[in-house]
Amino acid sequence: MEEIIQKLKSEAQNLIKSAKEARALEDLRARFLGRQDGEVTAVLRSLKDLSEAEKRKIGPLAQKLKNDVEILLEEKLDFFKKILRQKPLFDLTMPGKKVSVGHLHPLTIVEKEIREIFKAMNFSVVEGPEVETDYYNFDALNIPKDHPARDMWDTFWLKPESQRLLLRTHTSPAQIRYMKSHKPPFQIIVPGRVFRYEATDASHETNFHQVEGLMVGKDITLANFKFVIEEFFKRLFKKNVAVRLRPSYFPFVEPGLEVDVRCVKCGGKGCNICKDSGWLEVMGAGMVHPRVFEAAGYNPRDFQGFAFGLGLERIAMIQYNIPDIRLFYSGDLRFIKQF
Ligand code: FA5
Repeated sequence: MEEIIQKLKSEAQNLIKSAKEARALEDLRARFLGRQDGEVTAVLRSLKDLSEAEKRKIGPLAQKLKNDVEILLEEKLDFFKKILRQKPLFDLTMPGKKVSVGHLHPLTIVEKEIREIFKAMNFSVVEGPEVETDYYNFDALNIPKDHPARDMWDTFWLKPESQRLLLRTHTSPAQIRYMKSHKPPFQIIVPGRVFRYEATDASHETNFHQVEGLMVGKDITLANFKFVIEEFFKRLFKKNVAVRLRPSYFPFVEPGLEVDVRCVKCGGKGCNICKDSGWLEVMGAGMVHPRVFEAAGYNPRDFQGFAFGLGLERIAMIQYNIPDIRLFYSGDLRFIKQF
């Protein structure tokens, strides 16, 4: 019996010494001192079977074993508590975890700038649906069915075709939607995504953005348009830029114009961005066609106004000297991280 007591003592000493955390001490307490089947408890319980002489000899030893194990456990527990009090819960000197912060896409940055410039010139910003009817996308804009001008906009039609729904090919349908529910005078811009069923190349995407502009009143003229657009480019490019208006054709304006700005990179000398022409084509525009006013429910004799539609990607390409429109949608981090 003395041997068993000695063995239990050294075992308890070793295990308690090597315990790494307070939870391990709980397990050891149960193992040695547990009421039901603790190993030390079993020794104490077996005393009753011994002779009186043995009891007198072994009894105190067994009791001492119990006390010693209790003291060892208490001491080690105190030790853990002390460490916890001394040691900070985390190491302040450790380098922090790097948080990756995203940023705005270059197209979002340019669109925000454009919104702010027009808002400062008292334009309202409105939006229109991306899924349109062929009535708003074409008919109401003076492009009836079978009109050859429909070929100017290669269209994604939605199924079933009988519904005549499409992905808008330009932001111009928003002109009709706005005019139907508002009375002039007003001036608005309509930024938004548009879709064209056409082959992609360095300056053409199937999915791109436009910013439509519309100003209507009793006496709005092309002179107002020229001023607004020159002022817009001056604020956007932060310098005076020459603007050139060229005659062009769009069924929903008369006269129709194509707008070029003097190349902001080479100043007109010729470079890769303007393909050596010195000019950059940035938007279609013109005076709102009387048939468009009629489709919106206005009497064309009462009002006149100008409209324009600029390609957002083209402006961003000029701003940031980007050679290929497809980079915007490539998801290539080497590109996107530069902004
Ligand atoms: C239009 O879409 C007319 N709705 C613009 C307009 C509005 C004219 C109001 C008159 C009055 P156009 O198809 O030219 O026009 O497109 C306008 C601009 O969108 C272009 O100048 C160009 O900058 C951009 N754009 C056109 N097609 C693409 C394309 N596939 N990818 C990227 N940008 C394009």
